[in-house]
Amino acid sequence: MTSSLIVATGATGQLGQTLSRLWAESPLPQYQLEALDRSELDISQADRAIAVLSELKPAVIINAAAYTQVDKAESDSSAAHLVNAEAVGRIAAWSAQNNAKLIHISTDFVFDGSSTTPYRPDHQTNPLGAYGASKLAGEHEIQTQAKQCSAIIRTSWLYSEYGNNFVKTMLRLMGEREQLSVVNDQIGSPTSTHGLAALIFAMIPKDNYQGVYHWTDGASISWYEFAQEIQDQAIQAGLLSKAIPISPISTSEYPTAAQRPAYSVLDRSRAKAEFECPVEDWKGQLNLVIKELASK
Ligand SMILES: NC(=O)c1ccc[n+]([C@@H]2O[C@H](COP(=O)([O-])OP(=O)(O)OC[C@H]3O[C@@H](n4cnc5c(N)ncnc54)[C@H](OP(=O)(O)O)[C@@H]3O)[C@@H](O)[C@H]2O)c1
Repeated sequence: MTSSLIVATGATGQLGQTLSRLWAESPLPQYQLEALDRSELDISQADRAIAVLSELKPAVIINAAAYTQVDKAESDSSAAHLVNAEAVGRIAAWSAQNNAKLIHISTDFVFDGSSTTPYRPDHQTNPLGAYGASKLAGEHEIQTQAKQCSAIIRTSWLYSEYGNNFVKTMLRLMGEREQLSVVNDQIGSPTSTHGLAALIFAMIPKDNYQGVYHWTDGASISWYEFAQEIQDQAIQAGLLSKAIPISPISTSEYPTAAQRPAYSVLDRSRAKAEFECPVEDWKGQLNLVIKELASK
């Protein structure tokens, strides 16, 4: 393929916006990036989506579009499946037929959380809810239709200065409330979209990626511990004027429609061995986003 075009789907999402931002700061010299929003490339519109790809003929597709409403998916599983599996299957088939590479983002929610050690990419999957099941079905589509020309990056607890995420929700609540209760028995790894985007851009020129990779910011903490660090850093950055008490609670005290894995730390060793990975640890990555929010 002679094209040097990278197409990113889901341009208005957290990762989509970060890809555009990072690209503006340090583009890969031999490539162009076109980040397309839903109005330009709705991946669930079968014929139209294929027509857009066939017109642009990208060398690389980064699929950052997804149905990400974890709880809503429990009562809307067909919508989640349409975007996270069926549409992914069509993109995968197009990639294989047109000699393009596909980098797809998946989730820690493909696991059931029963492990006590970090999940390796080949660990048995067993999603607990409809969102995780739809994302796993999307992985299967890729493995079936585009195994030789694709990479699946599973990540977790994604946040950024954009959109809706745990960090921004905590900052809002910490500014509004006198005290907060946060779940302390789900253990995982926060991931800044900045680090994830940097990994994706490190992968592209290497061209030999294939199969499943795991990428997070490397912590093994609870949402409660994450909230404490968010508050500490936000006070230091001047985003919050005072600390409020944060109480640890159990998952059973904060019921949600979708069940979450109790443990979803991902083993990153394969990504670290094959690519030049971001070096900031989880606190450093959080600090970059907190400073970004403070500067707005
Ligand atoms: N957020 C997390 O905690 C988390 C954790 C693990 C893995 N992930 C995965 O990481 C990836 C990026 O997540 P994110 O947090 O950046 O997601 P996000 O902020 O929710 O953004 C999702 C994007 O997908 C777009 N989209 C939805 N349906 C679409 C369609 N039919 N056609 C085209 N675009 C469509 C949305 O467009 P609109 O703005 O128009 O709705 C939005 O731009 C996803 O694959 C997600 O499953 C996320």
